[in-house]
Amino acid sequence: MHVSGPLSSKWAAYLGLLSALSATFAPSVAVKEHDFKKCHQSGFCTRNRAFADHALASSSWQSPYNIAPDSASFKDGQYQAVILKTINDSGETVRLPITVSFLESGTARVTVDEEKRQKGEIELRHDSKARKERYNEAEQWVIVGGTALDKAAKVDHEDKTQLTVKYGPSSKFEATIKLSPFSIDFKRDGNTQIKLNDQGLLNMEHWRPKIEKPVPEKQEGESTEENKAEEPKEEPKEEPKGEDESTWWDESFGSNTDTKPRGPESVALDISFVGYDHVYGIPSHAGPLSLKQTRGGDGNYQEPYRLYNADVFEYILDSPMTLYGAIPFMQAHRKDSSVGVFWLNAAETWVDITKGKDTKNPLSLGGKSKTNTHTHWISESGLLDVFVFLGPTPKDLTAKYGELTGTTSMPQEFSIAYHQCRWNYVSDDDVKDVDRKMDKFKMPYDVIWLDIEYAEEKKYFTWDKHAFADPIGMGKQLDSHGRKLVTIIDPHIQNTDNYPVVAELKSKDLGVKNKEGNIFEGWCWPGSSHWIDAFNPAAREWWASLFNYDKFKGTMENTWIWNDMNEPSVFNGPETTMPKDNLHHGNWEHRDVHNLNGMTFHNATYHGLTTRKPGELRRPFVLTRSFFAGSQRLSAMWTGDNQAAWDHLEASIPMILSQGISGYPFAGADVGGFFGNPEKDLLTRWYQAGAFYPFFRGHAHIDARRREPYLMGEPYNTIIAAALRLRYSLLPSWYTAFRHAHLDGTPIIKPMFYTHPAEEAGFDLDDQFFLGTTGLLAKPVTQKDKESVDIWIPDNEVYYDYFTYEVVPTAKGKSVTRSAPLDKIPLLMRGGHVFARRDTPRRSSALMKWDDYTLVVAVGKNAKGTAEGDLYVDDGDSFDFERGQYFHRRFVYDGAAQSLASVDYEGRDAAAVEDGEWMKKARSLGVREIVVVGAPASWAGKKRVTVESEGKKSEARIEFTPAASGRAAFAVVKGLAVSIGADWKIDFA
Ligand SMILES: *[C@@H]1O[C@H](CO)[C@@H](O)[C@H](O)[C@H]1NC(C)=O
Ligand SMILES: *[C@@H]1O[C@H](CO)[C@@H](O)[C@H](O)[C@H]1NC(C)=O
Repeated sequence: MHVSGPLSSKWAAYLGLLSALSATFAPSVAVKEHDFKKCHQSGFCTRNRAFADHALASSSWQSPYNIAPDSASFKDGQYQAVILKTINDSGETVRLPITVSFLESGTARVTVDEEKRQKGEIELRHDSKARKERYNEAEQWVIVGGTALDKAAKVDHEDKTQLTVKYGPSSKFEATIKLSPFSIDFKRDGNTQIKLNDQGLLNMEHWRPKIEKPVPEKQEGESTEENKAEEPKEEPKEEPKGEDESTWWDESFGSNTDTKPRGPESVALDISFVGYDHVYGIPSHAGPLSLKQTRGGDGNYQEPYRLYNADVFEYILDSPMTLYGAIPFMQAHRKDSSVGVFWLNAAETWVDITKGKDTKNPLSLGGKSKTNTHTHWISESGLLDVFVFLGPTPKDLTAKYGELTGTTSMPQEFSIAYHQCRWNYVSDDDVKDVDRKMDKFKMPYDVIWLDIEYAEEKKYFTWDKHAFADPIGMGKQLDSHGRKLVTIIDPHIQNTDNYPVVAELKSKDLGVKNKEGNIFEGWCWPGSSHWIDAFNPAAREWWASLFNYDKFKGTMENTWIWNDMNEPSVFNGPETTMPKDNLHHGNWEHRDVHNLNGMTFHNATYHGLTTRKPGELRRPFVLTRSFFAGSQRLSAMWTGDNQAAWDHLEASIPMILSQGISGYPFAGADVGGFFGNPEKDLLTRWYQAGAFYPFFRGHAHIDARRREPYLMGEPYNTIIAAALRLRYSLLPSWYTAFRHAHLDGTPIIKPMFYTHPAEEAGFDLDDQFFLGTTGLLAKPVTQKDKESVDIWIPDNEVYYDYFTYEVVPTAKGKSVTRSAPLDKIPLLMRGGHVFARRDTPRRSSALMKWDDYTLVVAVGKNAKGTAEGDLYVDDGDSFDFERGQYFHRRFVYDGAAQSLASVDYEGRDAAAVEDGEWMKKARSLGVREIVVVGAPASWAGKKRVTVESEGKKSEARIEFTPAASGRAAFAVVKGLAVSIGADWKIDFA
C-alpha cells in the first residue's frame, strides 16, 4: 500500500478533503511514469551523462583527477593520499582526500571526500542551516562488521606512476593504484576483474561559490503538464569548463523548487567489469534479473537504473524506474567467476550500464576479446564510498556483503508461513469471520493483517472504536489457534488536535524539519501530517515507547507491525516524497539521506517491538516497504503495489530473486496483485507461486473485490488449499534456508547462476529457482492457460517429480517439458539431497510445533554416492538460539554403505549445551517417516532396518515400492524411535 488508483473512492474523498482545506493545491490524481523524473529532468544525472558523452566521444579525453605527488602513504592495510581535481586551464585544483582500505575479508574500500567541506570552509546559500560536510554517516546505519584492516596487505611494487598492493586471502588479490590520471585496477590471480575510473568518468562536483551573472529566466512552479512535454535538454557540447550551470543552484520539478544551498555536489564514477557480460542486483526494479543496458540500442533501456525510494504505485514492468527500496550492490558474473561492488551512498543514484568489446584496451583473456560491462554510478551528494569484492563465487559475494551489512535476522517462525491481508478487514467481526472461514475450508494461515482503516482517522496507535470495539477479544480468538495480528503503523503523524502522538512529536521536537528549520508539514493518508525523524536517536527511543502494551492499547503479544509509506510518501511532495532541502537530525539535508529514511523508521519500530514489556524479548516481526542495504537485519519486505495481472505475477519472481542475491532475501510480492481483481485461475497460480516466495502474503486494494482464498469455489479452493499446505509441510526446510541466510547471507530461493555458476545458459534465467539446500527446483506457472512449463536442467543429476517420484527425463543444459495443469506446481527434486517436512496438516504453524518430522532422501544419480541435507530447529520466537538453544542436524545418506546418519551440523557437542525449557521439550521431537526416493532395488522384500542411536540399537519398519513406468523405486521407513536432536544412524543393508 499505496497511493490508490484513479478510481478509488478513497482518493475522491481525499481530494474532496484537500480542496476543502487547500484551494491552491491540486495533486495529479493518477500518478504515472511522468510524475517521476527521467534522467533529463534531474540536473546531476543530466550533467554526468553529458560528462560521460563528452569523455567517451573524445579520443584525447583525460580524467582531470590526479593523485598529488608525495601525498600518498601506506600503512596497516590502508592507503591514503590526496586527489587533485584540476578545475580550469590555469591549473587550479581542488583537494579530494582518498583512502583505500584493504580489509581482512579480502574486500577493498575506496573512499573519497572533499577537503574544503571536511573542514567546513564553504558557504551555504539562503542562510541554510544544513551541514557543510559531505554526508559521512551512511556507514553508521549500514555497516555492521567486516571492516578490520588487512595488516598483511603489502605494497608489492611502487614507482612514480603507480603502486600495487597485494591483499586478501593468500594475497591472491591485487590493486594497482595509478596516480595520473587516478584509477584503480583490481586483479584476482593476476587477471584484471574490476577497474575504477578506467573510462575517466570520475566526477566529484566540488563546492564553489555562486557567481552572480545573468542566467536565463527560470520558470518557477512549472506544472507537471509542462514538465511532461519538456524535451530532453540539449547536452552541452563544450569542455566541462563551460558546463551547463542551469541546474547548479536550484531546480524545479512539478510545483516544487529545490533550493540546493550547497550548489552542485554530485559524485560519479565508472566501474568496469572486465570480461563480464552479466550484472545483477541494485534492486528494486521491475525488470529481468540480469540487468539490461541503459544507453541506446534495440532492447536496451533508454534510462539509467534509478535508486530513489518512492511511492511508485501501479508501477510499470520491464523498467529501470525507481521503486520503493534501494540496495546499491551489484554482482558481475561470467563462467566460474563472480565479482561485485557496493556503492555506499544514500542519496538519489542513477546507474548506467553498457556492454561491449573493449576497443581501447583489447583484452587477452584466453586470447580472445571478451565483453566488458561498464557501469556509471551517479549520486547526487555524499561521499564516494565503494566496496570492491573479488569473489570468485556468487556465494563469496553474498557472504562478504553480508559480513559488511549484516545478514537476515532469524525470523519469527510464524512469519515464514502464510499471511492473509487486505485493505481492509473492516471490523473485528470481519477478522474473526475470516479466521473461522479459513478453518472451515481447511486453509492453513498464521497471520491476519489490518491496513490503515483500523485506526481512528488514520491516527496510528489508536483504534476505530466502532469497527474495532474489542481488539483484545479479536487477538485472543486468533491466539487460540496460534495466530497473529499485524497492524499497520506509518511514519506520517496526523497534524491535529487531541492526538497525544502528534503533540509529543512537536513538544519533543522529533519531527523532520523543512529548509527553514521548522517542523515539516505535508499531506498523506490522514491529511495534514508531520513525519517522525527516525535519524534522531531520541525520536527512535520515543517511537519505541509508543509500542508498549499499555500505550498502544488493544495490542497483545501476538500483535506485530507493518511499516508502509516510509520512502517517505508525501502526497504533495516532489515525486510523492519529501523536498530534498528538508532537514534531518544533525542538519543533514534530506537529499543526503533519502534512501536511508525508510530503514531508520523500521529500525525504530523494530526496537519498539523489543521493549513492549519489561522482561519480554522476542524476535520482532516488521514488514517494510522502503528499505536500504542493511534492512535485512530488521525486516521483511514486499515489492509494493503490483497489479492483478499475469505479467505482474511473472515479474515478481525475478524481483524476489534479485532481492535474494542482494542480501535481502526475506521478500515477497502481494499474492493476487494489489490493484484490480484477479481471475480465479490467476489467483490460483499466484498462490502456487507465492508458496515459494520467502515472504508469502495475499493482499488486495480497498476497491478490489473480496478474494480470501476460500471464496474462489471449486476446483480453485482445493487447489489453493493444496498450495498452502505444501508451503506448511515444507516450513522446516524454509526455516533451515533462513538459518543459512542468517549465517552467511545466502539467498533463500536461488537463481541458476548462483547455484550453477559455470553454466552459461543459466545466467539469463530468472523464472526458476532452487529452495535453500533442499535441491527442490521450482518453476511456477505465470502465464494464462499455460498447462506445461519447460524447466532448464543445469547439471547431470537425476531429477524426480516432487509429487509422483517420476524420474524426469533430463539432460544437462537442456529443458524438459513438464505438464502443469492448474492443480500442479512444477516442482522437481534434485538427486543428492535430503530435506525435512512436517506432513500433518494443521491450521497454523504454531500448531505444528511439536509434530515429528518427515525426512525425504532423493538418491543421486550415482546411487553409490551420498545425499546430504540439513535441518535447523529452534523455538522460533526468542533469541535463545544465540545461546546455543537449537538443533542443526546434518543428514548424510551413504549409497555405498546404504545408511542414513544424523550428525550435528556444526560438529557441536550436544552435551555441552545446557537445555533450556524449549530444548528439553524439543528433544522429544522425533522422525515420523523417512522417504527414500530412488531406493535401490535390492531393498525389495525388506521389512526391517536397524537403527542405532545413543548406543542403543532398535528396529524400524520399511515398506519398499519397486520402480514402475518411469517412477523411481521408493521406500518408506516408519516406527522410528529416534529424537531429531540426537545422533543416529539407520542401516538399510
Ligand atoms: C580557475 O578557478 C579558480 C577557482 O574557481 C578561479 O579563481 C580562477 O579565476 C580560474 N581561472 C581561470 C583561468 O578560469
Ligand atoms: C538501529 O539503528 C541504530 C542506529 O544506527 C543502530 O545502533 C542499531 O544497531 C540498529 N538496529 C539494528 C537491529 O540494526
